[in-house]
Amino acid sequence: MRSYFIAGNWKMHKTVAESVALAKELKDKLAGCSEKVLVAPAFTSLAAVAEVLKGSSILLGAQNMGPEEQGAHTGEVSVLMLKDLGVKAVILGHSERRHSYLEGDALVNKKVLLALKHGIEPILCVGETLEERESGKLEAVIGTQVREGLKGVDEGSLKAVTVAYEPVWAIGTGKTATPEDADAVHAYIRKVLAGLYGEQAAKAVCIQYGGSVKPDNVAALMAKPNIDGALVGGASLKTESFVPIARFR
Ligand code: PGA
Repeated sequence: MRSYFIAGNWKMHKTVAESVALAKELKDKLAGCSEKVLVAPAFTSLAAVAEVLKGSSILLGAQNMGPEEQGAHTGEVSVLMLKDLGVKAVILGHSERRHSYLEGDALVNKKVLLALKHGIEPILCVGETLEERESGKLEAVIGTQVREGLKGVDEGSLKAVTVAYEPVWAIGTGKTATPEDADAVHAYIRKVLAGLYGEQAAKAVCIQYGGSVKPDNVAALMAKPNIDGALVGGASLKTESFVPIARFR
């Protein structure tokens, strides 16, 4: 039985005390969950949440990281600092980073390579805007983000990479791609990966869907052959919604 990768992106929400409270509840309510579950709190809460998650199978994630190992980079958090706290995976190239902070493919790629070098699994986010979709650019946009994001990643390291397909128009809007539409884009991502690494390697890559995933739509999305997990924003902020998502089957 394949296990799904369900990740919660807490974004810029929750104080340390709130993060600890949520992590404690999740640790309790998701004990024995058969899926791979990860939570990505804000940087300020990582250390405290790491402490709570000790002895739990829930993995600790970060929402971003700097593109350098260390040095004079005011305001950045490095891969070494994340590793030090026990961070196992890092969300990179989220559309909010791409659009609000103008992170481009080259920068995202630099971070992907750096995460892999230090044994942190990158979750490479890709996704089109509504305008790009409506003007027929969906495949070009997704193809570029996947190819450029993975530039220099060898086949051996690909196993540690998760790709998250998050249509920008579905993030935080309550609009979800239909399972069929999402699966079609996931299949396209797999085709791009097959072109780069071969069929076998492409098949093994975990491709998450993200964008208004909720307890009532998660099962239909996960039932699709190319959807291997979910990257959950809003619904990951409460146990009442995140637990049923992680326990969708
Ligand atoms: P959402 O966010 O679930 O609130 O749409 C998903 C994400 O941005 O990762």
